[in-house]
Amino acid sequence: MTFCEYRPGLEGIPATQSSISFVDGQNGILEYRGINVEELAQHSTFLETSYLLIWGGLPTQEELDEFEHEIRFHRRLKYRIRDMMKCFPESGHPMDALQACAAALGLFYSRRALDNPAYIRAAVVRLLAKIPTMVAAFQLMRKGNDPIQPRDDLDYAGNFLYMLTEQEPDPLAARIFDICLLLHAEHTINASTFSAMVTASTLTDPYGVIASAVGTLAGPLHGGANEEVIFMLEEIGSVDNVEAYLDKCLQQKTKIMGFGHRVYKVKDPRASILQQLAEQLFEKFGRDEYYDIALAMEQSVSERLGHKGIYPNVDFYSGLVYRKLGIPTDLFTPVFAIARTAGWLAHWKEQLGENRIFRPTQIYTGPRNAPYISVEKRQSVQDQALIGFVTG
Ligand code: ACO
Repeated sequence: MTFCEYRPGLEGIPATQSSISFVDGQNGILEYRGINVEELAQHSTFLETSYLLIWGGLPTQEELDEFEHEIRFHRRLKYRIRDMMKCFPESGHPMDALQACAAALGLFYSRRALDNPAYIRAAVVRLLAKIPTMVAAFQLMRKGNDPIQPRDDLDYAGNFLYMLTEQEPDPLAARIFDICLLLHAEHTINASTFSAMVTASTLTDPYGVIASAVGTLAGPLHGGANEEVIFMLEEIGSVDNVEAYLDKCLQQKTKIMGFGHRVYKVKDPRASILQQLAEQLFEKFGRDEYYDIALAMEQSVSERLGHKGIYPNVDFYSGLVYRKLGIPTDLFTPVFAIARTAGWLAHWKEQLGENRIFRPTQIYTGPRNAPYISVEKRQSVQDQALIGFVTG
């Protein structure tokens, strides 16, 4: 079979077959293993949903208890990982720290047995358990403090908030944070998941798979958009400035952060749930000064760009929720990574089930049979590149 049409960003080209999640972008529907995400957000927890994504079905009470127990048991970090983190510059981005730590796990658990279910289970548990601890530890260490040990009496979300703040988490805050994790856990073949699958297809170890996905999630067009949204709201500063800000973006053709999606042509269903969660938090802990700006932006962008299918995506309201939970802005994307580790692991496992290494083709656009020019006759490559950059 030959397929010669080039589609930038592989838009619309199926890269795999998957039974993990389903998106209907025209009607704003997201399902994990066939269950609507709104229903899961209402009734499930992040760990139960992770189990569903990775093993394909909701666990029995006994299976869930065992899974949660294993995760609690593996939350601690090896002291060598903590020592390694002490050497990281405090000015470095926490996503870079997380990527390095995820990859470093591979040094400690290097025996690779991808056809052994016990190995798969141990890797799933270790990654889900340790990634939140890494994020919280980096946050404390960059401020010059010792990391806080996980607390076994707290659930997944509550323990993360505790490790970050050393304060007993408020039950509503912990439940809302857990729902945020659940909502970010999986989203079909997005850039970071594709990256995870390509890496998985080489049969490398799962720590390398997750490290490559973390690196991909970090970019501002993907997971990094949630912190960019807050910078944008800060820059706008007041509801009165919204129209002028949007005028400038549209004139200069710059993307408005937190809006637009390759698949959704209506408001992302996760954005609607996150907005409700933000409102619940505002009711209990006070309204965020940026919320009115966000509402004004949503209304204006929908009026101006709705005809192109540009509406709020998952990143638009998540930052406002995280701010209210006291999470620093540059941890928003690492928090996304904590959640999406579940989806990446589900795709890793699915990829191993029917693996073939990814090796797409390309359409070559360069010269052929070019002569070798001797050094004294060459023109400066830098000058030519500069001309190409300026004119192209
Ligand atoms: N602001 C203004 N215009 C937009 C935006 C936006 N945020 N997003 C898309 N458009 C416009 C484009 O200018 C383009 O218009 P045109 O057809 O007149 O040229 C049209 O919509 C299609 O846009 P593309 O960039 O081709 O859409 P693509 O599917 O490649 O990109 C993406 C999707 C990257 C999410 C884009 O909408 C974007 O950059 N959004 C802002 C960043 C963001 O919020 N990213 C998070 C996405 S969700 C996630 O990854 C978890």
